[in-house]
Amino acid sequence: MDPREYQLMYQVEDRHWWYQGMEAITRTMLNRWVHLPNLRILDAGCGTGAAMTTYLAEYGKVTGVDLYPQALEFCRKRNAPRLARASVLNLPLAPASFDLVTSFDVLYERAVSSESAALKEFFRVLTPTGRILLRLPAYDWLRGQHDKSVHTNRRYTKKLVHDLLEQSGFRVEHLSYVNTFLFPVAVIKRLSERIFPPKESQSDLALNPGVLNNLFRYILTSEAPLAANIGLPYGLSVIAVGKK
Ligand SMILES: C[S@@+](CC[C@H](N)C(=O)[O-])C[C@H]1O[C@@H](n2cnc3c(N)ncnc32)[C@H](O)[C@@H]1O
Repeated sequence: MDPREYQLMYQVEDRHWWYQGMEAITRTMLNRWVHLPNLRILDAGCGTGAAMTTYLAEYGKVTGVDLYPQALEFCRKRNAPRLARASVLNLPLAPASFDLVTSFDVLYERAVSSESAALKEFFRVLTPTGRILLRLPAYDWLRGQHDKSVHTNRRYTKKLVHDLLEQSGFRVEHLSYVNTFLFPVAVIKRLSERIFPPKESQSDLALNPGVLNNLFRYILTSEAPLAANIGLPYGLSVIAVGKK
């Protein structure tokens, strides 16, 4: 990721509609698909630590791993108790030591040379009944300026995520697109970027949604029960639950 992106993420992740909506979706998915209390959780590619130190911590003890020191510095500012600097491709963690691995928007990055290798590492560190909750950006044709800032290697379809999980040994329990209701807005934005490209690549997080923040949060949050139960047919991200 562009190093400036960590500062930006840290600044906005507690109040930006996208993070708040994804939190609601993640909570609903966890409540629906991951039943045990007091989980040992690995947040693989934990970024600047908001998820790990806030809502994931309500489900158990969270360990955060990230490759980049800038990310871990921000996690320390949030008093994250268990952190390690490591690549998802080579986790310095014992086999069968976690009940749940979460990995939100990590495996698509250029610094992850093989999603399968990372998924096999997640499989290794999970207990025999462990689960993975995975989120990735959707559709390669939706690449935009934001993808330049976060060094996207590729974007995914539900089928691709399904196949990657199953090939790594997981049984897919649930799969859905999310960020569906705002999809038309995103498509218009991405297409207009192609017609009028900005001079510098710009992260979506740098856009201040202003008065629309509450509206967008409400729209994204309202998808949570549909995404976690019947699943949504298209959207800007793919979210999956897999069982070891
Ligand atoms: C888009 S951020 C997402 C952060 C966080 N999961 C979230 O949802 O806010 C991607 C994160 O993956 C980390 N990352 C990229 N490649 C990695 C690798 N090979 N191993 C571990 N972390 C990696 C980046 O440093 C960054 O913090």
